[in-house]
Amino acid sequence: MQKKWWHDKVAYQIYPKSFMDSNGDGIGDLRGIISKLDYLKELGIDIIWLSPIYKSPFVDQGYDISDYYQIAEEFGTMEEFDELLAEAKKRDMYILMDLVVNHCSSQHEYFQKALSDPDGEYADYFYFVKGKDGREPSNYRSYFGGKAWEPVPGTDKYYLHMFAKEQPDLNWENPALRRKVYDMMNWWLKKGLGGFRIDAIINIKKDINFPSFPPDGPDGLVSCVKMVEEVNGVGEFLEEMKHETFEKFDAFTVGEVFNMKEDELREFIGEDGHFSSMFDFSAHELTYGEHGWYDAKPVEFRRWREILFASQKEMEGIGFKANIIENHDEPRGASRYLPEYARNEAGKKMLATTSILLRGIPFIYQGQEIGMTNCKRDDISEYDDISTKDQYQVAIEAGCTKDEALRACYENSRDNARTPMQWSGEENAGFTGGRPWLSVNPNYTEINVLEQESREDSVLSYYKKLIALRKAPEYKETFTYGSFQPIYEETENIFGFLRVSKESGQRILTAANFGKEACTLSLPGTAKKVLLSNMKKESEAEAEIRTLGRLPLESCEAIVLLLEGGEE
Ligand code: NOJ
Repeated sequence: MQKKWWHDKVAYQIYPKSFMDSNGDGIGDLRGIISKLDYLKELGIDIIWLSPIYKSPFVDQGYDISDYYQIAEEFGTMEEFDELLAEAKKRDMYILMDLVVNHCSSQHEYFQKALSDPDGEYADYFYFVKGKDGREPSNYRSYFGGKAWEPVPGTDKYYLHMFAKEQPDLNWENPALRRKVYDMMNWWLKKGLGGFRIDAIINIKKDINFPSFPPDGPDGLVSCVKMVEEVNGVGEFLEEMKHETFEKFDAFTVGEVFNMKEDELREFIGEDGHFSSMFDFSAHELTYGEHGWYDAKPVEFRRWREILFASQKEMEGIGFKANIIENHDEPRGASRYLPEYARNEAGKKMLATTSILLRGIPFIYQGQEIGMTNCKRDDISEYDDISTKDQYQVAIEAGCTKDEALRACYENSRDNARTPMQWSGEENAGFTGGRPWLSVNPNYTEINVLEQESREDSVLSYYKKLIALRKAPEYKETFTYGSFQPIYEETENIFGFLRVSKESGQRILTAANFGKEACTLSLPGTAKKVLLSNMKKESEAEAEIRTLGRLPLESCEAIVLLLEGGEE
């Protein structure tokens, strides 16, 4: 396998609106990000992905872009962005922008021009389609609920929006539009970006006949994803995009790819794949309810382990997925994947261990490194997310009480991850001197960076050790390129895997006890050295293992163990 500059990197996602506010307007900004680069460097971060910072009306918190060449005023200026790039470079860090090109904002100049001349050149930048029998061209439901078609005023046409109606879909069949997108991407890449995180990309390929499908809900509509599942050919657009843009810059790209067809992984992330990497959403997919958030089932450990392992095996010999516990579209991982009794510092460290040492590129979401959690709200008006508002309504219409619907939001809302970063125990968590755009999680007095920096046994200190271990010269090759071999799969509660280097034969075992009770495991070889423990001193853990000749694990304990064998 050809080695690439990004294979051994650790990435971090910043949600700019909630990261650090430098000017007291309650909204995070670029200057705030610059002020925290040293913090990220110290954590061990190499690549920073910024959720969208372009000019936007913020209907979908910046994923509705009205000008791809401008920075949103709320976040700062282009000069500040250039400064951020330069400061990151000084620290050997890379910046990824979010590439949102399935759709733009209805405020974008192209869309405005299209509306003012619905038969003109710009109308063809979008899907302006004639209705059928006085109704929408098809029965699609958008991802955020309601119809995916909106009338084009003064015409018998409708425009397609797979997300909000303020996010019209761009017409990728039109070569002129594609050219504009590539020019824009190259403009950013020339500035010195490390690459892009690529939003909702599978959706760019449409069946332009827009067939209707049998409804899948009481609203008589069908999720627009059905059309995406049925259509082929997205790869042609993606190959063209790659050749026209990031390939020329050796950029790193990570795709948000849902609904990939079977056996396409190599095409997406193989050596000559469309992207460098794509997120592993297999765990997230476990959390879908049949009808919405309100009937989502809690994640069951065995199933979770099974699908993560399957995903690890699937990518072996193909490429590198990007591993996540959470992101800005999901609730906090500590609140979702840990059982009640493990929702403590030991549990959070255990969860970190099992994610960061997997094969792939680790992506840490802001606040994960201090163990931030979901945030309870008393009323739907306290949420500021279009998808949460929709899902609340779905729950109410399905007969849930207000409390039940709020409970579903507490467990699933995207705003759980979007509350401001908890920097300190000061007012508003040290995030802003003003009034935060989304109120802080009240637990900031206990969970915050400043407190955890002062403590060697904090979640934050553990993340630093964990990342440093992954990158340590003696083990880096194994953690980066070593194969993934599951172990203890027959147990009820152990998340265990070996990373084995093909080059040196080095074998490193990671084992974590997600169960409530302690247990003792047999070892797949002779223990050589405990590299990391989330509960004990490494020397103590090692002595225990030597005495027993087995591996004892408390509830919520995780251990990383070097086994004998392999070249030194
Ligand atoms: C995926 C993004 O991560 C999400 O936040 C956004 O709402 C949709 N794509 C639409 O851009």
